[in-house]
Amino acid sequence: MKFLELISVGKTFRSGGKPPAEILTGIDLHIEKGEFVAVIGHSGCGKSTLLSMIAGLEDATAGSVCLREHEISGPGPERAVVFQHHSLLPWRTVLGNVMLAVDAVFAREAKAERRARAERWLEKVGLKEHMLKYPHEISGGMKQRAGIARALSMEPEVLLLDEPFGALDALTRAQLQDEVVRLHAENGLTVFMVTHDIDEAVYCSDRIVMMNVGPRASIGQILDVPFARPRERISLMESEGFAHLRARCIRFLYDQKGKQVPVATPIPVPDPVVGEPALAG
Ligand SMILES: Nc1ncnc2c1ncn2[C@@H]1O[C@H](COP(=O)(O)OP(=O)(O)OP(=O)(O)O)[C@@H](O)[C@H]1O
Ligand SMILES: [Mg+2]
Repeated sequence: MKFLELISVGKTFRSGGKPPAEILTGIDLHIEKGEFVAVIGHSGCGKSTLLSMIAGLEDATAGSVCLREHEISGPGPERAVVFQHHSLLPWRTVLGNVMLAVDAVFAREAKAERRARAERWLEKVGLKEHMLKYPHEISGGMKQRAGIARALSMEPEVLLLDEPFGALDALTRAQLQDEVVRLHAENGLTVFMVTHDIDEAVYCSDRIVMMNVGPRASIGQILDVPFARPRERISLMESEGFAHLRARCIRFLYDQKGKQVPVATPIPVPDPVVGEPALAG
């Protein structure tokens, strides 16, 4: 049975009085269970929109997004999302934030069991000793960890990450990448990660989906990342294979820059249209 499938997916935004904006078109992608897929592309091409459709937060306006051959029609606990900026509730402790997710998904379990679940995930992301603190009392990296613990505490099959480490310093980002890679391996997770960080895409993923520029963006190329797991960061990043894949991503993004679609139609173009591809480190 197919796991996660995007079949001729398109998205057109229609909002009051404005001309329709066709953002994505003809997206075909099959993601296998346990796969780690990274998505890169210029700012505004529709990466977050694509992720939101898999999350069930946005509907596809063409084609279908299916999980195990059932069309996704809304959010579900088997698909958890972590955004770039944490979305912790400021009036709840770290534990309280994770408990919210656990309580929603495992409502039938006794309170002590639910609390043990939340604590177990906080321990896995190294936050157990900080679990009684409030979001304003912990660092940015710790907040992202809490967001990851909250997402994973629902025991999802699919983890959707939208630039999850974009706001963090390089060292914290590297640590969290390693944690997500470990959690992906330990829990048989399927991961779909949008990123602007090419090194992150190459280091973490099994495949890199490279999006064309929008509007009417589609998948330009898909790169296989053949490195064995577990991966050792420094030696991998110093290898020729890594440099080769990294260069292919950069070349793709630079080529896309030249293919920017002129604003010939009333379709809104994002502002700013093109950013330089971000490199880690
Ligand atoms: N709800 C909406 N209504 C109308 N247009 C929208 C809506 N959400 C997103 N868009 C437009 O869709 C396009 C793609 O947005 P999206 O956020 O998916 O891009 P992105 O690739 O994630 O960009 P970035 O890399 O900057 O995060 C943009 O032009 C954006 O303005
Ligand atoms: Mg985005």
